[in-house]
Parts: sequence; structure tokens; C-alpha cells
Amino acid sequence: MKILAACGNDCSVCPRYTALPYEKTGEELQHTAELWMKIGYRDHVVTNDEIACSGCRPENRCRYRVIKCCAEKGIKTCAACPAYPCETMRECFAVTRSFEPKCREVCSDAEYEILKRAFFEKEQNLLIEQAISYISELFRSNAGGHDTEHTLRVRRNAMMIAETESGCDREITELAALLHDADDHKLFHTENNRNARTFLEGRIDADRIERICACINSVSFSRNRGKIPETLEGKIVQDADRLDAMGAVGIARTFAYGGEHGRPLRESVQHFHDKLLLLKDEMNTETAKQLAAKRHAFLEAFLSELDEEMIDL
Ligand code: NI
Repeated sequence: MKILAACGNDCSVCPRYTALPYEKTGEELQHTAELWMKIGYRDHVVTNDEIACSGCRPENRCRYRVIKCCAEKGIKTCAACPAYPCETMRECFAVTRSFEPKCREVCSDAEYEILKRAFFEKEQNLLIEQAISYISELFRSNAGGHDTEHTLRVRRNAMMIAETESGCDREITELAALLHDADDHKLFHTENNRNARTFLEGRIDADRIERICACINSVSFSRNRGKIPETLEGKIVQDADRLDAMGAVGIARTFAYGGEHGRPLRESVQHFHDKLLLLKDEMNTETAKQLAAKRHAFLEAFLSELDEEMIDL
């Protein structure tokens, strides 16, 4: 999982980050210090102590004073700031971007990928933070709060699958995963993905908004029986959502939903046969197929145990 710095950098992949369990060897830090000079982040090779970073602490140097600014406002990252994106952050993003060509030039592909994820995606990372706040608020006021967790699990599943699918647009996938239930007809009475669009408009390009909405619309099980999403991102998010209806979490959700709607146990069990046991054969991606096989086996084991324990009345 990502560890976001106040400015949106992802510390979990940063070659400077040394907080537990992300310790680096002396050799690794020295390599980073040399790389920092090659790129132009430093004008000489600095010491390992100077290159090592333990995260956003007040005593750590922060060129844009973002750490201090967030601490003063009592927020973790700039994503929660009403003034976002302020002048300082616009400058911060511009300076970060200005280093990208040099990184492409002097870094190996692997090094470049690490720096891209650590630094060049800070705006996307902050956007994702904002999306999480948005859906938490949406579900808090509309659905008793429990759907935020489902959404976060779907996002986690989706990003796990995305890692193994080349050519996938990770931002589209992640936003679609986070917003996939924002206009669920069981919870909201919205048309044309109104809730998702309300968040996205003004934050990303119009054509990307359409791609995200198309992706969201291809996810629902009941509305898309037998239909395979046209895009890779749609396939991934559909798989991610369906995985969350399987395994232990699928069982827990089924009975929680049944209880909430006053359904007797047997009626909830029927849902396994009507939907959950069919999902294994409906996965689109290889990774999801593997994850689904394990979760399906758990569903079957649970049902056979339940069968033994239940009595015919
Ligand atoms: Ni869902």
C-alpha cells in the first residue's frame, strides 16, 4: 500500500525512505545519493545520512514547507486542504515535472519507474485521497457507512490486478474502483453517474471522465449479466468488485445484507447459489481467476459445513 507524504509523494516506493520496514542498506543509499546528483536533485553526492528520509517529520527539510503547513492545519496531506491546489503546490508540481525529462535520460527503466511512482504521480495520489474522502462522505450520509470499506477493498483488489496487466491505465482503474458504487441504484437515485461526475468534473479531462463512467457502468453484476466490459480497466474493476462478493468477505457481506433486510438465513444461503458460486467462471483477468479459485473453494467449504449443521424443519 502507498504511504503518502504530505505533498502526495509515495514514500513506500521512494529510494530514500528508511522508516520501518523500509530500511535501506548503506550501498542502496549511496546509489540513491549518486542518482540524485546525476538527475540534478543535488549538486554533489551527499552523505547517506542526508539522503535517508524517515518521512514527513517537522525536523525534516521540506523545500515547500508542506509538512509544516499541513501540521498547522491539522491535516495529513494537501488533499484535505480547502485551498488545494494553492500557489505553492502548483509550483511544487511544476518543479517536480521539470525533472522528468532528465530522469528519463539518466535513469534505467527500473529506476525511472520507481521515481515516477514515488514523485511524478503526486497529483494523482492526492486526487485519489480526495476521492476516498468524497466516497466516505457520500456513503456516510446515504448508506450507514459500511460501503466505504467495500469500496476500499475493491480498489485494493483492482490495483493488485492492475499490477499484473500491462497496458492498464492505473488512474482510470483506481478512480473507477473508488467511484463504482457512487451511483449504485440501491443506494442513490441519480442519473448518468451524477455522483461520480460531481467529483470528477474540474479535476480531470472530460474524455477521461467518460472513460471512468463507462468503466463504472460495466461493473454491476445484475445489469451486465454475460457482458464482458470492452476496456481492460472495466474488466479489472468488474473482477475486483466480484472478488469482494466471494470468499470470507463475500459470506460476511451476504449475511450482513440479509440481516439488514430482515431475511431468514435460508434466503441468504440461496444467494450463494443465485450469484456467488457463479462468479468464479465470470472473471476476466488471469490474476482474478487465481484469486477467485481460492475464494470459491472457501465458499464451497462453508456451504458444505453449513449444510451439515443446519437441520430440516
Ligand atoms: Ni460494489
